Amino acid sequence: MSDSLKKKLKLKVSAINNGTVIDHIPSENLFKVISILGLQSLKTQITFGANLESEKLGSKAIIKLSDVFFKDDEINKIALIAKNAKLNIIRDYEVVEKRVVEVPDKIIGIVKCFNPKCITNNEDITTHFTVISKNPLDLKCKYCEKITHEDQIVIKQSIK
Ligand code: CTP
Ligand code: ZN
Repeated sequence: MSDSLKKKLKLKVSAINNGTVIDHIPSENLFKVISILGLQSLKTQITFGANLESEKLGSKAIIKLSDVFFKDDEINKIALIAKNAKLNIIRDYEVVEKRVVEVPDKIIGIVKCFNPKCITNNEDITTHFTVISKNPLDLKCKYCEKITHEDQIVIKQSIK
């Protein structure tokens, strides 16, 4: 069997012509990734798969977006919930570039402040953190200035 045939048999979601493939997303965070990136308002072709077999993650999800190309700061918003995600840029059916996501310097929304008394936990105010350490993650709240440490990070249930 040729390598190209083997690759095709492995494909659970059809190849795309031009655009971006976001691979190695943890299955349980697929819909959060869709929401953070605002994919629900796209008019271009979107295909995705979830609960696919993955050697690295056990189970992964993949999103294929035709004719969509992200800026670094847009795609980096998913770093906290899909830190192993890999971006594949596709042109004329070929992978022309691979990129990894990187934790941004500021995180707006997405994460809850650890401090129960923080205004963001008591009023309808979007959270806003400065990343003061990336590994391990330490996030400093703009409003109460308390630090949310990596093991205290809770992702918001609904992401605006
Ligand atoms: N892909 C696609 N359409 C194309 C080319 C590639 O949807 N025209 C997808 C593949 O299905 C795969 C991803 O883009 O999910 C990366 O493709 P490729 O680099 O060929 O696969 P792998 O070597 O398995 O990637 P990895 O770097 O993740 O190991
Ligand atoms: Zn706070």
